[in-house]
Amino acid sequence: MQEQISRANSYIAQQAPQVNPRFRHGYHLMPPVGWMNDPNGFIYYEGYYHLFYQFYPYDSVWGPMHWGHARSKDLIHWEELPVALAPSEPYDQSGCFSGSALVIENQLVLMYTGHVDIAGQVTQTQCLAVSNDGISFRKYEGNPVISHAHIKGIADIADCRDPKILKHDGQYYSVVASKTVDNRGQILLFQSANGFDWEFKSVLLEGQAGQGIMWECPDLFPLDGKWVLIMSPIERERAGNAYWNLNSTVAYIGQMDWDSGHFQVENQHEIDGGLDFYAPQTCLNSENERIMVAWMQMWQRNMPPHELGDGWAGAMTLPRKLGVIDNRLCQSIPSPVLAQLRCDKSWQGQLGPGQEHYLSDWVKPQQVLKLKLDALPGAVFQLQYGGKANQPQGLTLTWQADQDHLSVSREGVGHRIIGKEEPYQDSRQLDLWSSDSYKLELEIVRDTSSIEVFVNQQQVMSFTFYAEGLGTGIGLVSSQLVKVENLTNYSLI
Ligand code: FRU
Repeated sequence: MQEQISRANSYIAQQAPQVNPRFRHGYHLMPPVGWMNDPNGFIYYEGYYHLFYQFYPYDSVWGPMHWGHARSKDLIHWEELPVALAPSEPYDQSGCFSGSALVIENQLVLMYTGHVDIAGQVTQTQCLAVSNDGISFRKYEGNPVISHAHIKGIADIADCRDPKILKHDGQYYSVVASKTVDNRGQILLFQSANGFDWEFKSVLLEGQAGQGIMWECPDLFPLDGKWVLIMSPIERERAGNAYWNLNSTVAYIGQMDWDSGHFQVENQHEIDGGLDFYAPQTCLNSENERIMVAWMQMWQRNMPPHELGDGWAGAMTLPRKLGVIDNRLCQSIPSPVLAQLRCDKSWQGQLGPGQEHYLSDWVKPQQVLKLKLDALPGAVFQLQYGGKANQPQGLTLTWQADQDHLSVSREGVGHRIIGKEEPYQDSRQLDLWSSDSYKLELEIVRDTSSIEVFVNQQQVMSFTFYAEGLGTGIGLVSSQLVKVENLTNYSLI
């Protein structure tokens, strides 16, 4: 594989300086050049968060998958490392698809999917790669370690991918995405005593009709006394305000029966309420905190940085800290990121019914805005982010307090992003979990081309937008009395 990796690394070194900087993020991980999708191999290892990703360096579209690699100490300053994996063997000749990482006997082990597509005949097997320094990897000579013989009669070899490896009670396990013969998602569980020799254990969870025609990128972990299974269903049917993207993400919260290998579901819900969030994966840091990161983009939509010839496409979300409260997966800004925030300015005030307030010069390409509101019944509060004096719109956040709804719209902001969804969508509405309908806390995390709205330190809505010349003002307006207890701008350093 060394040859393919050297070729990719020298191409990157040569081409990265040509990438157009206009839409590049300040603190979200992006490919140095070319295409990025799913996070892979997310692990806290020897003092660094290592984040690998699905990577095609040679064009800003999806292609034969490599694994890009970066590391960070604080989740916002990322150091690009050499490419970790490249297609090179008969069993992964068409791509090294998504997977995960675990330390086994002092070695950093990657488990990934070897993808082979010969004239439309697809085979997906699970393979290992091993490293002693966490930087350069060699593919295991016993590859593939999970192949056709392991899943015969249980799953189709053409759709069997994205292994997430974990250790529980002295045994290694791997959860793998697949589907049933009648196109329902299912997650398979494999077991190993040493991490290298694997056997099929069980179908961990099988989806029902309407819950997705294929499940991708599973992750299984214990958290706050529960077990959590997250994954990414393709074409999960809409339900109320949930699952409006063609590719969704879902969290199942419940118990694991390790004897039978079955997951017992107690609750399930969509993970992120925005338009750009897919294939999340988690790791445990040195403080025993569960941190999740996802691809901040969506399949089946156009990607402006590619179309405009900028030379790159795709980014990761801000990594988030997870917790389980009331059988729901809650997300908040993790402490290493909070530690980087510097208070810049703040505003307090009150908006009477129908009253508007305009804050000029508040919008920055990189910032975190914290907002605390206290409303009277009937309040419909709107925050227009990035408006201009003659065109107040920008990104629009609307809170309907009585309905416990928050919506975010990117309509009219920057280059149009159109997907295969019907009808065409440039906003989403989220049902809030809050216990007090008339109080709302937002943390608006903005980078050059994205906005992630953290709600009550529980829920998040993630959006990309590609706009040159976004305005610098914030407009606030409400239909009923709202106290703005605090609006504070933080810069990230
Ligand atoms: C999810 C996914 C995975 C696959 C990878 C290929 O976005 O389709 O199932 O391993 O992307 O790049």
